[in-house]
Amino acid sequence: MFTRRNFIHTTVASTGSLLLSNPLTQNLGTGVRKPVVVSTWDFGQKANARAWEILGRQGRALDAVEQGVMVIEADTSNMTVGVGGLPDRDGKVTLDACIMDEHGNAGSVCFLEHISHPIAVARMVMERTPHVMLAGEGALDFALSQGFKKENILTKEAKNAWEKWKKSAEYKPIINVENHDTIAMLALDSQGGLAGACTTSGLAYKLHGRVGDSPIIGAGLYVDPEIGGAAATGLGEAVMRTVGSFLVVELMRQGRSPQEACMEAVERIAKREKRPQDMQIGYLALGRNGEVGAYSLQKGFTYALQDEEQSTTVAALYYLE
Ligand code: GLY
Repeated sequence: MFTRRNFIHTTVASTGSLLLSNPLTQNLGTGVRKPVVVSTWDFGQKANARAWEILGRQGRALDAVEQGVMVIEADTSNMTVGVGGLPDRDGKVTLDACIMDEHGNAGSVCFLEHISHPIAVARMVMERTPHVMLAGEGALDFALSQGFKKENILTKEAKNAWEKWKKSAEYKPIINVENHDTIAMLALDSQGGLAGACTTSGLAYKLHGRVGDSPIIGAGLYVDPEIGGAAATGLGEAVMRTVGSFLVVELMRQGRSPQEACMEAVERIAKREKRPQDMQIGYLALGRNGEVGAYSLQKGFTYALQDEEQSTTVAALYYLE
């Protein structure tokens, strides 16, 4: 069970490991680590590799995060993002994504069907419209107007999984620690530009029309060029109720390290939610000096990090024992 005492214990333990060895702060000293890219989960390593092709040749963080997460959007073996994502309870794959650049500009799409790269549409919303967010049919019309093609993004595997789910689930969306993941990526480029991207197919077998945290600026992702960025994965409803990524960045603004800020944001969810043990939430944060923080509600959240010295995956510290 979680208790305040556990939390303090975890904090002390983590502080020790952070100081000694952790890639979160490795080689930072008083300087700035750049370029650097971090993304959620082990599969983030593949996305980071693509992002690094851009960052490593002094490219822009915005291009790196967009191209990086597109690798996972295109990966049909990943059933939580882009093509191959699990559908809602009506068998429809609806995608959510958002992006922020080094000036704090933002673009977002939600409840978008038939398009394999929602992150690219989100970027176009940011760069080619006066708006931040487009939803559903309007987002699709906009995508088509920009040259995207309508595709079938429900794979055979995802359809089979949905049909199996339908037999036993009584058409009820379920909350558990496993049925949603997100790729969120934060990058700092060699010019010091900071950007973030977040993309998902959302909660598996959700109600048709449900939108999670991932396309909501401040919930699934937030970048303040002066402070740093943060992103979330896990049960979007809990992240939305606490405006999680904005909270992490605001805590960093108040002087918390990225790690401390992620921990405090997770603690807030643990205290507010009636059954935190039934959900997973993970936060990832990147300060504008390249310092990384990560923390989750439960064991199991990992993130991938790449900088000039390493490409690695790291198991995040967590709150619930
Ligand atoms: N974090 C993804 C979702 O809940 O939709």
